[in-house]
Amino acid sequence: MKVDVRQSSLRDADAALVAVGLFEGGSFADGVVGPGSDDAKGTFRSMTLLYPGEPRRLLVVGLGERDDFDVEKLRVLAALVAGEAKKLEATSLAWALPAAEDEEAAAEAIVTGTILGSYRFDRFKGSGKDDEGPRLETLTVLGPAELAGAVETARIYSEAANRARDLQETPANFAKPEDLARRAEEIAAGSDKVTVEVFDGDAIRAKGMGGLAAVSQGGPVDPRLITLRYSGAGSGPTLAFVGKGVTFDTGGISLKPGAGMQEMKFDMSGAAAVLEAFAAIVELGLPIDLLTVVPSTENMPSGTAVKPGDVITQYNGKTVEVNNTDAEGRLILADALAWTVEQGAERVIDLATLTGAVLVALGSTYAAVISNDDALASEIAAAGEESGELVWRLPLHPEYKEMMKGTVADLSNLGSKREAGTITAASFLEEFVDGTPWAHIDIAGTAWDVNRAYTGKGGSGYGVRLLVQLVRDLVD
Ligand code: BES
Ligand code: ZN
Ligand code: ZN
Repeated sequence: MKVDVRQSSLRDADAALVAVGLFEGGSFADGVVGPGSDDAKGTFRSMTLLYPGEPRRLLVVGLGERDDFDVEKLRVLAALVAGEAKKLEATSLAWALPAAEDEEAAAEAIVTGTILGSYRFDRFKGSGKDDEGPRLETLTVLGPAELAGAVETARIYSEAANRARDLQETPANFAKPEDLARRAEEIAAGSDKVTVEVFDGDAIRAKGMGGLAAVSQGGPVDPRLITLRYSGAGSGPTLAFVGKGVTFDTGGISLKPGAGMQEMKFDMSGAAAVLEAFAAIVELGLPIDLLTVVPSTENMPSGTAVKPGDVITQYNGKTVEVNNTDAEGRLILADALAWTVEQGAERVIDLATLTGAVLVALGSTYAAVISNDDALASEIAAAGEESGELVWRLPLHPEYKEMMKGTVADLSNLGSKREAGTITAASFLEEFVDGTPWAHIDIAGTAWDVNRAYTGKGGSGYGVRLLVQLVRDLVD
């Protein structure tokens, strides 16, 4: 989407649809809006379409109470306005910046809500494509020219989030480990500050990455371990993102029930988020040294599949009893985390659709963050509040760690009790970061079907905006 900023009156805003906010109990200065404006309501989410002549179509958007107004509400409204634009088949939209304490944040919210709210995945819709009508092509924020930087930044990370959604939505017969690797190579090709390294199955086995090898051995699809490196001339510690890239999770021999299994194409949402967040950070030229690592495989049952009770050796030499083959994410992340730390990461953040338990605990509103480092955990929580991609911290404790001990091996990939599934999974991961400041974000509840106005059903791209915001805050 083309996005720009223009200082212009509503009357002169040259767009197929012009949106202007109205607070509860507020009113427009005489003549600004024209006839019919008395009918417009300021109630949050109310939309009143007027035909004043100049502009041709004016949509009055209820902002709600002035005191309750925030950027999250504005993201929601921007998505609703994008929906109205679609109904009207408008290809250009202008949005008058509402009065806000932080005008840059408000401008970003309009851009984000519009771009995320206009998202469609129609790659596999042949003839039906045209039924959906034309796409919104341009968004103009009506406001001071100084907002141009914020608007461009928001365009970059919002489009990155939509690219992550494309990766998420792409079915598992089209999005394989090699396809994630190809995307990483494409990202690297776009900048001389980025390099990429990709291990195939043979290299993974030769390196002793026993978790990724074990999970992949049940199917014919070759796994990948992808490493992207960005030298952004950062002055702080090297940051690393790690993303779970299970392109389809059947559960393996511990087979999942059939109902809903198609959703497991989304089990690479962590990988999608870290790849596209990385791409956005590079595009924004943020001054940081950043690593991004993606272990990617399918998890399939077969005569060659890993079996419950099998013992494997992870990349850092620890042995693990695979007591449930459906707890595969932690096995591939264990190798990836140990590898990432060995590559010089000084702060590590992993994103993974790791446990169904997080959905029980937090639903789709908050992701869980679990960390061995208070500062990192609070920085992530702050970035969550700013971006609207919320996280809530859960604890670590030696008693949880106790639950992950193995009978014949160092560790088990399955807790000795069913309780605290999200935390025990994280406790397992902690065994592979060698004391490095680390945060694990379980996105199994937030990666799809979030049903917010700007994410809707399907892949949400969760994590892209959170990670970009975090890095913006870190380099600030
Ligand atoms: N990919 C799943 C987690 C998941 C479940 C994500 C539902 C989204 C929705 C993960 O690999 C898994 O199956 N985890 C198991 C772990 C258990 C066997 C300890 C789970 O959560 O049931
Ligand atoms: Zn699983
Ligand atoms: Zn999984």
